[in-house]
Amino acid sequence: MRIIRAKDYKDMSEKAASIIWAQMLLKKNSVLGLATGGTVLGIYEILCEKYMEGELDFSSVKTLNLDEYVGLEGRHPQSYRYYMDKNLFEKVNILKNNTFLPNGLAEDLKRECKDYDETIRQLGPIDLQLLGLGRNGHIGFNEPDDHFEDNTHVRRLNETTIKDNSRFFEMGEEVPKSAITMGIKPIMEAKAVLLAVSGAEKAKALKAVLEGPVTPSVPGSILGKHENLIVVADLDALMHVE
Ligand code: GLP
Repeated sequence: MRIIRAKDYKDMSEKAASIIWAQMLLKKNSVLGLATGGTVLGIYEILCEKYMEGELDFSSVKTLNLDEYVGLEGRHPQSYRYYMDKNLFEKVNILKNNTFLPNGLAEDLKRECKDYDETIRQLGPIDLQLLGLGRNGHIGFNEPDDHFEDNTHVRRLNETTIKDNSRFFEMGEEVPKSAITMGIKPIMEAKAVLLAVSGAEKAKALKAVLEGPVTPSVPGSILGKHENLIVVADLDALMHVE
């Protein structure tokens, strides 16, 4: 595990973006595992800037996103498809057909999970998996539980996650109660994992990831077993770590 200490959110975003940038320079047809949420927004902003400056080429890149809300269509402003389109895909030269997310509107969700695993199998292993960290230690939407779930599955969201994510929704708008998420296996099979963490509210979860023990009650703690984990975190997030 490598820990890269950043001063603040901006510095964390720059450092994490430079790792993705390097990955794309090293392998033009990289398969990137991507995440959503507030933490990674700054990273995407920098990647878009680098693209505008002619430094980055997404034309051969393929992407696999971690998760999607059940019940939200891709045009819904809070869907993760919409988030990815607006914050990255529509701003760079990636081919839309090379961008994959689970379909939250699928009629047969079990089938959708199987199909997504098959897509991951065909494209994988992921070269670089970008992850954020939930306040309760979740990765993707792998929520605290009594076991780790290997494959793509539908997950009922915890109250803390629903509350945390409600900030992105309009007042009175209902936050979806469940999501389809990639399981732990493809994350652990990724050639490298880049965990981006910012802010004091993540400090406890980050300490649990960095110091263990590995337990499904803190899903991110499994990352301690990954052979090529890169953590980029700012000082606030690292406040409980020696
Ligand atoms: C969301 C996403 C995760 C993300 C996490 C942290 O629920 N499913 O992939 O890492 O929460 O989000 P944020 O960066 O907004 O704190």
